[in-house]
Amino acid sequence: SLFGYAGAAGVGAAAGIVGGRVSLGDPPGPHGLPVGEGVTRQRHDPYGVHQSGILTPAPAAHRLLALDLLGKTDAGALARLMRVWSGTIAALMAGRPAPGDATPDLAQEGVSLTITVGMGPGVFRLPGLEDKRPAGFQDIPPMDHDKLQERWVGGDLVVMVQADDETTVAHASRRMTVDARPFALPRWSQAGSWRGVDPSGNPVTGRNLFGQVDGSRNPSAEELGQALWSTDGWLSNGTQLVVRRIQMDLDEWDALVRDRQEKAVGRNLQDGAPLTGGSEKDDIDRTAQVDGVPVVALDAHARRAHPAENRGRRMLRRGVNYSHVDDAGQETAGLLFMAFQASIAEQFIPVQQTLDASDALNEWTTAIGSAVFALPPGFSADHHLASGLFD
Ligand code: HEM
Repeated sequence: SLFGYAGAAGVGAAAGIVGGRVSLGDPPGPHGLPVGEGVTRQRHDPYGVHQSGILTPAPAAHRLLALDLLGKTDAGALARLMRVWSGTIAALMAGRPAPGDATPDLAQEGVSLTITVGMGPGVFRLPGLEDKRPAGFQDIPPMDHDKLQERWVGGDLVVMVQADDETTVAHASRRMTVDARPFALPRWSQAGSWRGVDPSGNPVTGRNLFGQVDGSRNPSAEELGQALWSTDGWLSNGTQLVVRRIQMDLDEWDALVRDRQEKAVGRNLQDGAPLTGGSEKDDIDRTAQVDGVPVVALDAHARRAHPAENRGRRMLRRGVNYSHVDDAGQETAGLLFMAFQASIAEQFIPVQQTLDASDALNEWTTAIGSAVFALPPGFSADHHLASGLFD
């Protein structure tokens, strides 16, 4: 499988990887079924050309943690934090306790843990780093359909933690937060989940909370090439991340007939195949008509987001579902949308503008959070995270 939103092993496997993974064999799953190769029970390599957690297959549990730098944190202090974090990431991903952990028994091998780090725009306002802001790295301009809430916006640093289970994610997130305390404090935390396996444990494209198969047409790492990885100075072999918290109106969606739901995307709900025929991974036929009416509506999401309608612009999408109970006990749900690309200005923003101008899905989806981060290249035992930024 070459296309996985988040779920399919394809994104990782196709990459030939990059941040590598070590299979721990095929232990029996629940009910004695074999567990599918490549999604769960992995040990990912913390070291590599690229950071892990970008092309590695998406496991079940996800957390994004944004932090803000303390006023006293200068470039030198930030470099120290990157050194500390590099040690913690290397230990935890190998299943070893991080230095200073009073709960060392929570560290386990083979839980598909990845920890990925990124820098927000504030880092490039620090004295000495002003000229290190990567080309195309910028905030998302306001969109007509946005209803941003300050509590889900921005951040000077991001930590993306992913694993097979929420306990591992909570432990790793806490280690990273405690490490950061002398330098940066939490700003927001967003949790998400994804089911990228079928009941037998085999990798499949997962579904969002509208019930849609989501990620079918995600390009492989080869197809993306330099559209994914930066070639710009210190960020070379890193990438740029856009995080959008997109609320989905599930009550209104439930009230629609299935036909209307499918028209909004241009793909069917049962298996994600185009309404013009074929199977899940096939492209929509943008020319197909019945009685002069396009089969895939002009405002269908899959048509509007299609590279052919966006001067060939592409991105790696890796969204996860969220379901959140707020302080008032109100439940909201949606997609914690994540897109990776070499240049936010040249890739994400114009596609988002196309969708803001017209996309049938806009009736039931609203961006309530937005943040951007530059994700440094991978690191090694000799060179800590983002070391090139401080040269
Ligand atoms: C495709 C859902 C937001 C970009 C799709 C598909 C679904 C979907 C079901 C078809 C299957 C697939 O190819 O993955 C959603 C939902 C969203 C959302 C529910 C919001 C809650 C966005 C945003 C962007 C985006 C914000 C970018 C700005 C794309 C692209 C494709 C796609 C590029 C593939 C088009 C193609 O190459 O055929 N989306 N999407 N989506 N979406 Fe979204």
